[in-house]
Amino acid sequence: MTERFVNVDDYAEAARERMEPGAFGYVSGGSGDEHTLRGNAAVYTRWELRPRVLVDIGNVTTATTVLGAEVALPVLVAPTAFQRLCDPEGELAMARAAATAGTVMCQSTLSSVTPAELAAAAPGAQQWFQLYWSRDRGFTQELVTGAAEAGFSALMLTVDLPVAGRRERDVRASFALPEDLPLPNLSQKLRREDFHDALHAVHDDTLTWRDLEWLRSVCPLPLVIKGILTHEDALLAAEHGAAAVVVSNHGGRQLDGVPPTLDVLPEVVEAVGERVEVLLDGGIRRGIDVLKALALGARATLSGRSVLWGLAAGGEEGVTRVLELLRREIELGLKLLGCPSPADVTRSHVRRATL
Ligand SMILES: Cc1cc2nc3c(=O)[nH]c(=O)nc-3n(C[C@H](O)[C@H](O)[C@H](O)COP(=O)(O)O)c2cc1C
Repeated sequence: MTERFVNVDDYAEAARERMEPGAFGYVSGGSGDEHTLRGNAAVYTRWELRPRVLVDIGNVTTATTVLGAEVALPVLVAPTAFQRLCDPEGELAMARAAATAGTVMCQSTLSSVTPAELAAAAPGAQQWFQLYWSRDRGFTQELVTGAAEAGFSALMLTVDLPVAGRRERDVRASFALPEDLPLPNLSQKLRREDFHDALHAVHDDTLTWRDLEWLRSVCPLPLVIKGILTHEDALLAAEHGAAAVVVSNHGGRQLDGVPPTLDVLPEVVEAVGERVEVLLDGGIRRGIDVLKALALGARATLSGRSVLWGLAAGGEEGVTRVLELLRREIELGLKLLGCPSPADVTRSHVRRATL
């Protein structure tokens, strides 16, 4: 018998076969012409690895630390909305698989369960809460306090969605959210048809750097700022007390025409130095993609679509397999690169491709 699931693309194909076309387009698509979406993945071919030989790789680990806590691989589960579109168990299945893999699950505000319910699904697992900030401050305060009380270990504020980008696949498919999809972390009911426009009523688009002070005063968790694409904003995040930044363009779903994240990473790392941890997401489909991000200074990466495709292809088990596939690819890559651990991957292990 031939093995069907050899790499992440195989899970994407299975997800395409299993999902309703509108939902698959929602998960897999980007904004505008999808220039940034394509760039996020294509950029990995523009960087090449520089392996060192005759290094003792008899004892290789893929484990590393993020915000001081150990993860079994340098891939975290990115926050993604509406996971029940992929599998009836949605976020709960994703959380259990992340726990099995020994990595962090970032829960989106746009999930079908509360932080307390997610924590109960995977007791003792590492979970971060991703915030879309409601216009109702009292509600926002309750939400982030609830996450802290539920045992979440970081608050991730997404800053690249003052309004939602225009995802043309969704427009063409007239994609609407199911009426029965619960969204308990929103201050009011979300219209199901043009839900991206409807987010405007819930999400505060007047926020500035100054508002972070209030957020930090009501939430004791370390703050991770997600959606940084310039060294200027990376520095502002550090100055405003962020513990980490995520170099992210929202998987090519917001402003089309921004650079692929891997190309932005060096300027951010150079600007912030050791002051904050730098994470990266966008286009991670292979273990060697992760190695290139580490070489350019990321502490770890996050995966959005790869794990969503795993969820759609096989529920909790599908996500577990995708994460294990990535872990094995990273392990093999580390061995062939001559690095006993993710922390040993340095800038000298990568160069720009010449062709
Ligand atoms: C279907 C989908 C939903 C998403 N929902 C959210 C969200 O609710 N909050 C958020 O901060 N980012 C969200 N993102 C962006 C991801 O966190 C992440 O930045 C992106 O998926 C990384 O790119 P990748 O999918 O190529 O790995 C979403 C991405 C996708 C694909």
